[in-house]
Amino acid sequence: MSMPEENDAIDMCYVLFCILSLHLGPALWNFVSKKLLNDPKSIVVDSYEFIKTLIDRRTANSTFFTTNKPSDLTQLDIAQKGRLAVAHGYFDEVALNWASYLLSWIELLKMIDAHTTAGTVQQIYDELISGSKTPMDIVLASFTKPNFVNQGLKKESDLTRAQYLKAIRIKLALYKCMVKHLGPALRSEHLRRKGAVRTNSEIDCQNLLFDLLEEWLLQPQHADMTTNVKIIETAKDGRNIVCHANLPLILTDWEATLLSWEKVCRLITNVNTANTIRDVYIDLKSRIDLPLPGTIWRSTAQSKYFANLVRRQVVLNPTWRRPNFKITLTKKPL
Ligand SMILES: *[C@@H]1O[C@H](CO)[C@@H](O)[C@H](O)[C@H]1NC(C)=O
Repeated sequence: MSMPEENDAIDMCYVLFCILSLHLGPALWNFVSKKLLNDPKSIVVDSYEFIKTLIDRRTANSTFFTTNKPSDLTQLDIAQKGRLAVAHGYFDEVALNWASYLLSWIELLKMIDAHTTAGTVQQIYDELISGSKTPMDIVLASFTKPNFVNQGLKKESDLTRAQYLKAIRIKLALYKCMVKHLGPALRSEHLRRKGAVRTNSEIDCQNLLFDLLEEWLLQPQHADMTTNVKIIETAKDGRNIVCHANLPLILTDWEATLLSWEKVCRLITNVNTANTIRDVYIDLKSRIDLPLPGTIWRSTAQSKYFANLVRRQVVLNPTWRRPNFKITLTKKPL
Protein backbone atom coordinates (compact mmCIF):
# COMPACT_ATOMS: atom_id res chain seq x y z
CA MET A 1 0.00 0.00 0.00
CA SER A 2 1.07 3.59 -0.56
CA MET A 3 1.57 5.72 2.55
CA PRO A 4 -1.81 7.52 2.28
CA GLU A 5 -3.53 4.14 1.75
CA GLU A 6 -1.74 2.70 4.74
CA ASN A 7 -2.78 5.74 6.74
CA ASP A 8 -6.42 5.21 5.77
CA ALA A 9 -6.17 1.54 6.72
CA ILE A 10 -4.82 2.49 10.15
CA ASP A 11 -7.72 4.91 10.68
CA MET A 12 -10.14 2.17 9.63
CA CYS A 13 -8.45 -0.29 11.96
CA TYR A 14 -8.83 2.18 14.78
CA VAL A 15 -12.59 2.39 14.15
CA LEU A 16 -12.79 -1.42 14.12
CA PHE A 17 -10.87 -1.51 17.38
CA CYS A 18 -13.34 0.96 18.91
CA ILE A 19 -16.26 -1.19 17.76
CA LEU A 20 -14.64 -4.28 19.26
CA SER A 21 -14.03 -2.50 22.55
CA LEU A 22 -17.30 -0.60 22.81
CA HIS A 23 -19.81 -2.98 21.24
CA LEU A 24 -18.77 -6.48 20.22
CA GLY A 25 -16.72 -7.41 23.29
CA PRO A 26 -19.30 -6.28 25.86
CA ALA A 27 -22.20 -7.93 23.97
CA LEU A 28 -20.22 -11.19 23.76
CA TRP A 29 -19.45 -11.03 27.47
CA ASN A 30 -23.15 -10.59 28.25
CA PHE A 31 -24.11 -13.57 26.08
CA VAL A 32 -21.49 -16.08 27.23
CA SER A 33 -22.11 -15.11 30.85
CA LYS A 34 -25.85 -15.58 30.47
CA LYS A 35 -25.17 -18.99 28.88
CA LEU A 36 -22.91 -19.85 31.86
CA LEU A 37 -19.96 -20.31 29.50
CA ASN A 38 -17.93 -17.72 31.35
CA ASP A 39 -17.15 -16.97 34.97
CA PRO A 40 -19.65 -14.15 35.62
CA LYS A 41 -17.20 -12.69 38.14
CA SER A 42 -14.55 -12.30 35.46
CA ILE A 43 -14.25 -8.85 33.94
CA VAL A 44 -11.98 -10.01 31.12
CA VAL A 45 -13.69 -8.97 27.88
CA ASP A 46 -11.67 -11.09 25.45
CA SER A 47 -13.53 -11.24 22.14
CA TYR A 48 -11.04 -13.84 20.89
CA GLU A 49 -11.90 -16.30 23.67
CA PHE A 50 -15.63 -15.62 23.38
CA ILE A 51 -15.76 -16.15 19.61
CA LYS A 52 -13.68 -19.33 20.00
CA THR A 53 -16.19 -20.62 22.55
CA LEU A 54 -19.12 -19.80 20.25
CA ILE A 55 -17.42 -21.58 17.31
CA ASP A 56 -16.94 -24.72 19.46
CA ARG A 57 -20.51 -24.66 20.77
CA ARG A 58 -22.13 -23.96 17.43
CA THR A 59 -20.02 -26.69 15.78
CA ALA A 60 -21.18 -29.22 18.37
CA ASN A 61 -24.79 -28.03 18.51
CA SER A 62 -26.68 -26.86 15.43
CA THR A 63 -29.43 -25.28 17.55
CA PHE A 64 -27.12 -23.43 19.91
CA PHE A 65 -28.30 -19.91 19.03
CA THR A 66 -31.89 -18.58 19.15
CA THR A 67 -31.88 -18.38 15.36
CA ASN A 68 -29.50 -20.71 13.58
CA LYS A 69 -28.39 -20.17 9.98
CA PRO A 70 -26.25 -22.39 7.77
CA SER A 71 -23.84 -19.45 7.40
CA ASP A 72 -23.24 -19.09 11.17
CA LEU A 73 -19.88 -20.84 11.25
CA THR A 74 -18.61 -18.99 8.18
CA GLN A 75 -19.59 -15.67 9.75
CA LEU A 76 -18.00 -16.62 13.07
CA ASP A 77 -14.81 -17.51 11.24
CA ILE A 78 -14.71 -14.13 9.44
CA ALA A 79 -15.52 -12.37 12.73
CA GLN A 80 -12.54 -14.05 14.36
CA LYS A 81 -10.29 -13.17 11.40
CA GLY A 82 -11.40 -9.54 11.76
CA ARG A 83 -10.45 -9.52 15.43
CA LEU A 84 -7.10 -11.05 14.53
CA ALA A 85 -6.38 -8.44 11.84
CA VAL A 86 -7.22 -5.57 14.20
CA ALA A 87 -5.26 -6.97 17.14
CA HIS A 88 -2.18 -7.76 15.09
CA GLY A 89 -2.14 -4.74 12.80
CA TYR A 90 -2.70 -6.66 9.56
CA PHE A 91 -3.42 -3.43 7.74
CA ASP A 92 -3.41 -4.99 4.26
CA GLU A 93 -6.16 -7.35 5.36
CA VAL A 94 -8.05 -4.52 7.06
CA ALA A 95 -7.94 -2.41 3.88
CA LEU A 96 -9.25 -5.33 1.80
CA ASN A 97 -11.76 -6.88 4.17
CA TRP A 98 -12.99 -4.25 6.63
CA ALA A 99 -16.51 -4.35 5.17
CA SER A 100 -16.83 -8.13 5.48
CA TYR A 101 -15.37 -8.02 8.99
CA LEU A 102 -17.98 -5.46 10.01
CA LEU A 103 -20.81 -7.42 8.38
CA SER A 104 -19.72 -10.60 10.16
CA TRP A 105 -19.66 -8.74 13.47
CA ILE A 106 -23.20 -7.48 12.79
CA GLU A 107 -24.29 -11.07 12.03
CA LEU A 108 -22.57 -12.27 15.18
CA LEU A 109 -24.38 -9.64 17.26
CA LYS A 110 -27.67 -10.88 15.83
CA MET A 111 -26.73 -14.50 16.62
CA ILE A 112 -26.25 -13.54 20.27
CA ASP A 113 -29.55 -11.61 20.36
CA ALA A 114 -27.83 -8.22 20.71
CA HIS A 115 -30.09 -6.57 18.15
CA THR A 116 -29.78 -2.99 19.40
CA THR A 117 -26.00 -3.20 19.30
CA ALA A 118 -26.22 -4.83 15.85
CA GLY A 119 -28.24 -1.78 14.74
CA THR A 120 -25.60 0.62 16.08
CA VAL A 121 -22.79 -1.18 14.26
CA GLN A 122 -24.93 -1.45 11.12
CA GLN A 123 -25.33 2.33 11.15
CA ILE A 124 -21.56 2.83 11.35
CA TYR A 125 -21.15 0.34 8.50
CA ASP A 126 -23.73 2.19 6.37
CA GLU A 127 -22.00 5.54 6.96
CA LEU A 128 -18.62 4.11 6.01
CA ILE A 129 -19.96 2.37 2.89
CA SER A 130 -21.88 5.43 1.69
CA GLY A 131 -18.71 7.50 2.00
CA SER A 132 -20.63 10.10 3.97
CA LYS A 133 -18.19 9.71 6.83
CA THR A 134 -14.52 8.84 6.98
CA PRO A 135 -13.23 6.62 9.78
CA MET A 136 -11.85 9.75 11.43
CA ASP A 137 -15.29 11.42 11.23
CA ILE A 138 -16.69 8.45 13.11
CA VAL A 139 -14.04 8.65 15.79
CA LEU A 140 -14.73 12.39 16.06
CA ALA A 141 -18.51 11.99 15.99
CA SER A 142 -18.63 12.01 19.73
CA PHE A 143 -16.32 14.15 21.81
CA THR A 144 -16.38 16.07 25.04
CA LYS A 145 -16.48 19.70 24.09
CA PRO A 146 -14.31 21.98 26.19
CA ASN A 147 -16.38 25.00 27.15
CA PHE A 148 -14.14 27.39 25.24
CA VAL A 149 -15.55 26.15 21.94
CA ASN A 150 -18.19 28.48 20.51
CA GLN A 151 -18.15 30.88 23.42
CA GLY A 152 -18.06 33.84 21.08
CA LEU A 153 -15.38 35.51 23.15
CA LYS A 154 -12.75 37.59 21.44
CA LYS A 155 -9.72 35.92 22.88
CA GLU A 156 -7.17 33.23 22.18
CA SER A 157 -9.41 30.42 23.27
CA ASP A 158 -12.37 31.42 21.15
CA LEU A 159 -12.29 28.49 18.74
CA THR A 160 -15.30 27.64 16.64
CA ARG A 161 -16.38 24.03 16.54
CA ALA A 162 -14.87 23.70 13.03
CA GLN A 163 -11.55 25.13 14.16
CA TYR A 164 -11.57 22.90 17.20
CA LEU A 165 -12.19 19.73 15.18
CA LYS A 166 -9.60 20.79 12.64
CA ALA A 167 -7.05 21.25 15.42
CA ILE A 168 -7.89 17.82 16.84
CA ARG A 169 -7.56 16.15 13.44
CA ILE A 170 -4.17 17.77 12.86
CA LYS A 171 -3.07 16.91 16.37
CA LEU A 172 -3.95 13.22 15.90
CA ALA A 173 -2.20 13.12 12.51
CA LEU A 174 0.92 14.79 13.91
CA TYR A 175 1.01 12.47 16.89
CA LYS A 176 0.72 9.44 14.62
CA CYS A 177 3.54 10.75 12.41
CA MET A 178 5.70 11.39 15.45
CA VAL A 179 5.32 7.97 17.05
CA LYS A 180 5.41 6.02 13.77
CA HIS A 181 8.11 7.84 11.84
CA LEU A 182 10.03 10.59 13.62
CA GLY A 183 10.55 8.74 16.91
CA PRO A 184 11.91 5.49 15.46
CA ALA A 185 14.24 7.46 13.14
CA LEU A 186 15.60 9.52 16.04
CA ARG A 187 16.08 6.40 18.12
CA SER A 188 18.01 4.58 15.36
CA GLU A 189 20.30 7.55 14.93
CA HIS A 190 20.79 7.88 18.67
CA LEU A 191 21.66 4.19 19.10
CA ARG A 192 24.03 4.33 16.14
CA ARG A 193 25.77 7.47 17.39
CA LYS A 194 26.19 6.03 20.88
CA GLY A 195 27.15 2.60 19.58
CA ALA A 196 24.38 1.18 21.73
CA VAL A 197 21.85 -1.57 21.19
CA ARG A 198 18.15 -1.20 21.75
CA THR A 199 17.16 -2.50 25.19
CA ASN A 200 13.65 -1.16 25.56
CA SER A 201 10.78 0.44 23.68
CA GLU A 202 10.97 3.91 25.11
CA ILE A 203 10.98 6.38 22.22
CA ASP A 204 10.80 9.79 23.86
CA CYS A 205 11.02 12.30 21.02
CA GLN A 206 11.59 15.16 23.39
CA ASN A 207 14.65 13.60 24.98
CA LEU A 208 15.97 12.37 21.67
CA LEU A 209 15.64 15.84 20.16
CA PHE A 210 17.29 17.41 23.22
CA ASP A 211 20.15 15.00 22.80
CA LEU A 212 20.53 15.81 19.11
CA LEU A 213 20.33 19.50 19.89
CA GLU A 214 23.13 19.16 22.39
CA GLU A 215 25.18 17.25 19.86
CA TRP A 216 24.97 20.22 17.49
CA LEU A 217 25.43 22.91 20.12
CA LEU A 218 28.73 21.27 20.96
CA GLN A 219 29.99 21.90 17.41
CA PRO A 220 30.13 25.71 17.27
CA GLN A 221 32.79 25.55 14.52
CA HIS A 222 30.48 23.67 12.18
CA ALA A 223 29.24 25.92 9.36
CA ASP A 224 25.69 24.57 9.61
CA MET A 225 25.49 24.60 13.37
CA THR A 226 23.11 27.56 13.74
CA THR A 227 20.84 26.36 10.94
CA ASN A 228 20.66 22.85 12.32
CA VAL A 229 20.05 24.00 15.87
CA LYS A 230 17.15 26.06 14.55
CA ILE A 231 15.69 23.05 12.73
CA ILE A 232 15.94 20.85 15.81
CA GLU A 233 14.44 23.51 18.04
CA THR A 234 11.51 23.93 15.66
CA ALA A 235 11.04 20.17 15.64
CA LYS A 236 11.10 20.09 19.42
CA ASP A 237 8.64 22.99 19.68
CA GLY A 238 6.43 20.98 17.30
CA ARG A 239 6.56 17.99 19.61
CA ASN A 240 5.61 20.28 22.48
CA ILE A 241 2.62 21.88 20.77
CA VAL A 242 1.28 18.39 19.97
CA CYS A 243 1.92 16.79 23.35
CA HIS A 244 0.83 19.85 25.30
CA ALA A 245 -2.16 20.32 22.99
CA ASN A 246 -1.52 23.97 22.24
CA LEU A 247 -4.42 24.16 19.81
CA PRO A 248 -3.78 27.70 18.50
CA LEU A 249 -0.19 26.76 17.66
CA ILE A 250 -1.27 23.43 16.18
CA LEU A 251 -3.52 25.37 13.81
CA THR A 252 -0.90 27.97 12.87
CA ASP A 253 2.33 25.95 12.99
CA TRP A 254 1.49 22.41 11.94
CA GLU A 255 3.05 22.78 8.51
CA ALA A 256 6.29 24.21 9.89
CA THR A 257 6.30 21.37 12.41
CA LEU A 258 5.99 18.59 9.86
CA LEU A 259 8.55 20.25 7.59
CA SER A 260 11.01 20.56 10.50
CA TRP A 261 10.54 16.87 11.30
CA GLU A 262 11.33 16.10 7.68
CA LYS A 263 14.46 18.29 7.87
CA VAL A 264 15.59 16.62 11.07
CA CYS A 265 15.37 13.26 9.31
CA ARG A 266 17.45 14.63 6.41
CA LEU A 267 19.92 15.95 8.97
CA ILE A 268 20.33 12.48 10.49
CA THR A 269 20.54 11.13 6.90
CA ASN A 270 17.40 9.06 7.18
CA VAL A 271 16.18 9.81 3.66
CA ASN A 272 13.39 7.22 3.68
CA THR A 273 11.76 8.60 6.80
CA ALA A 274 12.25 12.17 5.56
CA ASN A 275 10.40 11.24 2.36
CA THR A 276 7.69 9.49 4.34
CA ILE A 277 7.13 12.55 6.52
CA ARG A 278 7.03 14.70 3.37
CA ASP A 279 4.27 12.36 2.08
CA VAL A 280 2.39 12.71 5.37
CA TYR A 281 2.66 16.48 4.97
CA ILE A 282 1.37 16.49 1.39
CA ASP A 283 -1.43 14.10 2.27
CA LEU A 284 -2.50 16.03 5.36
CA LYS A 285 -2.40 19.33 3.48
CA SER A 286 -4.75 17.90 0.86
CA ARG A 287 -7.15 16.66 3.55
CA ILE A 288 -6.98 19.61 5.90
CA ASP A 289 -8.18 22.02 3.25
CA LEU A 290 -10.80 23.66 5.44
CA PRO A 291 -9.92 27.34 5.48
CA LEU A 292 -9.76 28.63 9.02
CA PRO A 293 -12.83 30.65 9.87
CA GLY A 294 -11.56 33.79 11.55
CA THR A 295 -8.04 34.40 12.73
CA ILE A 296 -6.20 32.41 15.28
CA TRP A 297 -4.35 34.22 17.96
CA ARG A 298 -0.78 33.05 17.64
CA SER A 299 0.86 32.52 20.96
CA THR A 300 4.49 33.59 21.15
CA ALA A 301 5.07 32.04 24.52
CA GLN A 302 6.11 28.65 23.19
CA SER A 303 9.43 28.40 24.98
CA LYS A 304 7.64 28.30 28.31
CA TYR A 305 7.47 24.51 28.20
CA PHE A 306 11.05 23.42 28.13
CA ALA A 307 13.39 26.32 27.69
CA ASN A 308 16.64 25.71 25.91
CA LEU A 309 18.17 28.64 27.67
CA VAL A 310 21.03 26.75 29.23
CA ARG A 311 22.04 25.19 25.96
CA ARG A 312 21.37 28.41 24.07
CA GLN A 313 24.14 30.09 26.03
CA VAL A 314 26.67 27.92 24.27
CA VAL A 315 25.65 29.33 20.91
CA LEU A 316 25.29 32.91 21.91
CA ASN A 317 28.42 33.09 23.97
CA PRO A 318 31.10 30.57 22.97
CA THR A 319 33.31 31.49 25.92
CA TRP A 320 30.49 30.75 28.33
CA ARG A 321 31.22 27.67 30.39
CA ARG A 322 28.57 25.06 30.56
CA PRO A 323 27.36 24.68 34.10
CA ASN A 324 27.67 21.16 35.40
CA PHE A 325 23.95 20.75 35.64
CA LYS A 326 21.51 19.85 32.96
CA ILE A 327 17.91 20.68 32.38
CA THR A 328 16.00 18.07 34.29
CA LEU A 329 14.27 15.71 31.93
CA THR A 330 11.83 12.99 32.73
CA LYS A 331 14.28 10.36 31.63
CA LYS A 332 17.44 10.92 29.62
CA PRO A 333 18.40 8.48 26.87
CA LEU A 334 21.40 6.43 27.91
C1 LIG B 1 -28.10 -26.94 22.01
O1 LIG B 1 -28.26 -25.56 22.42
C2 LIG B 1 -29.55 -25.25 22.87
C3 LIG B 1 -29.63 -23.75 23.11
O2 LIG B 1 -28.54 -23.31 23.91
C4 LIG B 1 -29.86 -26.09 24.13
O3 LIG B 1 -31.16 -25.76 24.60
C5 LIG B 1 -29.73 -27.55 23.81
O4 LIG B 1 -29.88 -28.28 24.98
C6 LIG B 1 -28.35 -27.83 23.20
N1 LIG B 1 -28.30 -29.20 22.77
C7 LIG B 1 -27.36 -30.04 23.19
C8 LIG B 1 -27.41 -31.42 22.60
O5 LIG B 1 -26.49 -29.70 23.97
